[in-house]
Amino acid sequence: MNNSGIKILVTGGMGYIGSHTVVQLIARGYRVVIADNLCNSNRNILSRIAQIAGQEPQFYEIDLCDKQALNDVFKKEEDIKAVVHFAALKAVGESVQHPLKYYRNNLISLLNLLEVQELFDANNLVFSSSCTVYGEPDALPVTEKSPVKPATSPYGNTKQVGEEIIKEQCTASNLRSIALRYFNPVGAHESALIGELPIGTPNNLVPYITQTAIGKQPFLRVFGNDYPTPDGTCIRDYIHVDDVAAAHIAALERLLNPPSESEGFEVFNIGTGRGNTVLEAIRAFEEASNQKLPYHVAPRRVGDIEKVFADTSLSNSVLHWKAEKDLHTMMASAWEWEKKLKINPLV
Ligand code: NAD
Ligand code: UFG
Repeated sequence: MNNSGIKILVTGGMGYIGSHTVVQLIARGYRVVIADNLCNSNRNILSRIAQIAGQEPQFYEIDLCDKQALNDVFKKEEDIKAVVHFAALKAVGESVQHPLKYYRNNLISLLNLLEVQELFDANNLVFSSSCTVYGEPDALPVTEKSPVKPATSPYGNTKQVGEEIIKEQCTASNLRSIALRYFNPVGAHESALIGELPIGTPNNLVPYITQTAIGKQPFLRVFGNDYPTPDGTCIRDYIHVDDVAAAHIAALERLLNPPSESEGFEVFNIGTGRGNTVLEAIRAFEEASNQKLPYHVAPRRVGDIEKVFADTSLSNSVLHWKAEKDLHTMMASAWEWEKKLKINPLV
């Protein structure tokens, strides 16, 4: 497929998954426009994207909650054909403390985007959803038909409600959308120029591991070793961020060239299909970095899911996409990114 000239708006394109996706979109010949307010990212990511991709995408520093500003981007760019919508706040714990902040940011920005897309007849949307919609699953692996459970955090609720809003808009208008339910994206680009940039103390396992190994954190706490799993620690489906990014290209290309059987709104699981325990993740990191990680077992973290991993047969067969990178590569790349950040910090 010849994509040159097709213009894609990437909201949140300066962020973790967004920046990796922008790099791949440019490599595929798309013209990329980024809209991001930098509330959880850094301006210097732009030149790093350019270093990898060979060109700097057009960047608008705007808040998607500002509808006029978003409207102005569509007006100025004229021919945006599709949107990949990453922009959202994503810290589960913070969302419990500040629910309105999350509902305002994640839902107002989505409503603004959908209204402006309709106005400009830009009728294709890839939406960042999450396996959090499955809650604690009754059966594993989870398929897209597994029940959506009541959200356990305002953040999770913004993903569930976001999917519903988009689905209804697809029924009511010309919009076509694919929601990608990511499992646990980790790792970094092989150049180590872009990666995950947690602000403050990380909540997530892999950034906590790499910050411990580099000495920013004294030790890792393993939250619970009394779960009914082979080694007592929780199970997740860790997936390399490059594989997650590639899923967006596959979803976008399905939207731009819809096969006759495709529906207006579709959802796909984006995982590897494999579950790993926390201790397995630590061991993989130790092998990849060739060093011991200081950790000790701590009480369970409130709200943690015991085990979850994806059935990816639908995304494999329909999107013609499959995760390729293994846990070792995820850990090795996360470690290279952390080390490079120390030598060459972004802020
Ligand atoms: P991120 O925080 O690195 O990137 C999000 C980007 O959106 C940031 O650059 C931020 O500045 C921007 N942003 C936020 N609100 C905005 C607004 N109102 N206007 C303009 N820009 C705004 O997060 P990420 O890890 O890259 O996640 C991307 C998406 O994927 C999010 O929607 C997130 O909820 C979803 N998701 C992430 C994970 C994960 O583990 N990383 C898992 C499931 C789903
Ligand atoms: N863990 C530790 N110690 C830590 C951090 C995490 O033992 O310091 C454990 C957790 O208890 C869990 C596993 O590592 O068992 C993974 O935890 P993460 O915080 O990395 O990931 P979660 O699966 O808990 O959360 C992620 C995203 C959320 C999203 C959720 C479900 O961060 O945004 O997946 O999709 F809601």
